[in-house]
Amino acid sequence: MMNQAIENIRDRAKKIAEIIKSEKGKIQVVTHHDADGICSGTIMYKALETIGKDFQIDVVRQLEDNIIQELSSKDADLFIFTDLGSGQKENINKYLSDRKVVIADHHTVSEYSAENINELNCHDFGIDGKDEVSGAGMTYFLCREITPKICESVEFTLIGAAGDTQKKNGQFKTINKYLFEEADRNGRIKVINGLRLFGRFTRPLHKSLMYLDRPKIPNVNGNESGAIQMMNDLEIPAKKTNGDWTRLHDLSKEEESRLTIEIILRSELVDNKDYLTGNVYVLTNDHELREFATMLNACGRLGKGKDGLDLCLGKKDNIDDTLREYRQKIAKYLNWVSRNKESIIHKKNGAYLVARDKIDENFIGTIMSIISKSADNKMKIMFGFANSDNGVKVSGRVDSSLDGIVDIDMAIRKVVEEIGGEGGGHSLAAGAKIAQGVELEFIEKIDLLLDYDQKKNTLSNI
Ligand code: C5P
Ligand code: ZN
Repeated sequence: MMNQAIENIRDRAKKIAEIIKSEKGKIQVVTHHDADGICSGTIMYKALETIGKDFQIDVVRQLEDNIIQELSSKDADLFIFTDLGSGQKENINKYLSDRKVVIADHHTVSEYSAENINELNCHDFGIDGKDEVSGAGMTYFLCREITPKICESVEFTLIGAAGDTQKKNGQFKTINKYLFEEADRNGRIKVINGLRLFGRFTRPLHKSLMYLDRPKIPNVNGNESGAIQMMNDLEIPAKKTNGDWTRLHDLSKEEESRLTIEIILRSELVDNKDYLTGNVYVLTNDHELREFATMLNACGRLGKGKDGLDLCLGKKDNIDDTLREYRQKIAKYLNWVSRNKESIIHKKNGAYLVARDKIDENFIGTIMSIISKSADNKMKIMFGFANSDNGVKVSGRVDSSLDGIVDIDMAIRKVVEEIGGEGGGHSLAAGAKIAQGVELEFIEKIDLLLDYDQKKNTLSNI
């Protein structure tokens, strides 16, 4: 079944690759600003560079009407959209109907079709882009038919997948798994077994411990001196002899297992520990997969998508300042949320955070992801609203236990059709842009559409 899907994807990719290979004019690549989008852009960049095409690449936050209008002024004969486009084909052709268009995407496909638009989307082959393949994965399938050399960059499909949180308890599935096996065979990724703390290679260990969310360690959680004390108790020095902070990567196997046992004991962890220990994916540049995805997200969401591309292309290796700014912003926004709980409107089915101008629109998606996945969150459906220069940015997130029950991509499309705006995405993570002032109407309507039986986890009207 999956092999058949891959065959079918390949056949379509071959046809679309011909359009790219035979292009004699200028090419404009447009990609999404998150980690997956930057990885998709990287793969396309490498492929086009290999075959000597004349191309430019732009990183955008979303294909909103005004952004496509702006892009249409570019002097390009062929537009290639990666990790976006499938939900915006009608909008694309409002401005680009006289150009050749290629889309490689994993978001839900909109009905619209046109002769100038050539699309490679997993949903057309029975593969769900929510967790089976990333935008970078679909870009990779396309680029593999442009040049076989792209196999040397297969790991970017997995960084994209990690950025889009497609890994569950450290495991990839179906197409992502297939791509992982290819990366493994080509020596592009390594898997080690260990503590799945964030920042193994880049963060002081005491910080990883103090920010650990699952499980929270009493007296260490949010407490820097408590975290250092815990390391002292285990006779693991917080600083190395050269004065640098100790990272998890610096620990011996024996120290790491001592630390693991201590975390389990102190947090009285009794349930499934898969999220604490297991597979840790390491890239050839000595970064952990999720860590690298976070670095790319930091660049993209701070409007420095080109820096993210340079990082992937090996033209840049230090983005410490960007990472610091990213962490500070996230901490500031999370702090605001915890001090302004009254900004969350609780309805029958979901919780709705109306942040207005308190959270940057480029960060509302990240904040909603963090809040909805945090250990103490009980809400299975969450939406956030942040003001933007052209309306209100909406970001929705749904707990994976409602997979196959609730589809916010569909719900968002229905609501924006009624109240105006644009939106879409995946069934459990999607976004929209609506006018200022219609937030409450949006909330009323979507909460009705997302009515599910909270005891049985089924749609109420079934
Ligand atoms: O923006 P946010 O992070 O909330 O988006 C969640 C998912 O929905 C992302 O994969 C994003 O690309 C997608 N999306 C979309 N169309 C929109 C807004 C978001 O496909 N108009
Ligand atoms: Zn994506």
